[in-house]
Amino acid sequence: MRILIAFYSRTGITKKTCNAIAEALTNSGGSVEVQVEEIIDREDRSGALGYARAGRDAMRKRTTEIEPVQAEVAAYDLVVIGTPVWAWTAVPACRAFCEQFAAEMKAVAFVATMGGNGDRGAFEALEEWCGKAPVATVAVRERFVKREDAEDFAQPVEAFARQLLAAAAGA
Ligand SMILES: Cc1cc2nc3c(=O)[nH]c(=O)nc-3n(C[C@H](O)[C@H](O)[C@H](O)COP(=O)(O)O)c2cc1C
Repeated sequence: MRILIAFYSRTGITKKTCNAIAEALTNSGGSVEVQVEEIIDREDRSGALGYARAGRDAMRKRTTEIEPVQAEVAAYDLVVIGTPVWAWTAVPACRAFCEQFAAEMKAVAFVATMGGNGDRGAFEALEEWCGKAPVATVAVRERFVKREDAEDFAQPVEAFARQLLAAAAGA
């Protein structure tokens, strides 16, 4: 079974979460092949100005230009999409990814990281952009990701990995 985890991360929180999910999948002992790919936004989102533009673009549910994706998306049984929550929705780079590969993704699952809340809006947006309901979702708060060993991070990550394996096995 092949699983692709594609994520966007501005400050590393979603990256760390997605890498932990990949590790949990790899350590599951099953015959699962996991590939992780970072979605790169061509728009500069750094600094105060980048932050302000990010908020504005997310609020308007804009798409953006992303760097070419290396993975052959159609070759995976399941694609996990990781997004930070911006303005209670998913980020423009994930919109670009979803729209580019909507027809190629057989099954999808979603990961959101956030300061406080907004995961529901992010998951609804991703579902709309992919044109597919997720087989599983997980949302984690930034402060739990930073305290990596906390049960509030490890437990949801492992539970999500188990859900992915069950979904992929049943497909
Ligand atoms: C422009 C912008 C808007 C944000 N809006 C929200 C929000 O609506 N709700 C929330 O809980 N966190 C919000 N955050 C915080 C991020 O979701 C959180 O820091 C996330 O874990 C960062 O992930 P990353 O390090 O992978 O970029 C926002 C962050 C940015 C930059």
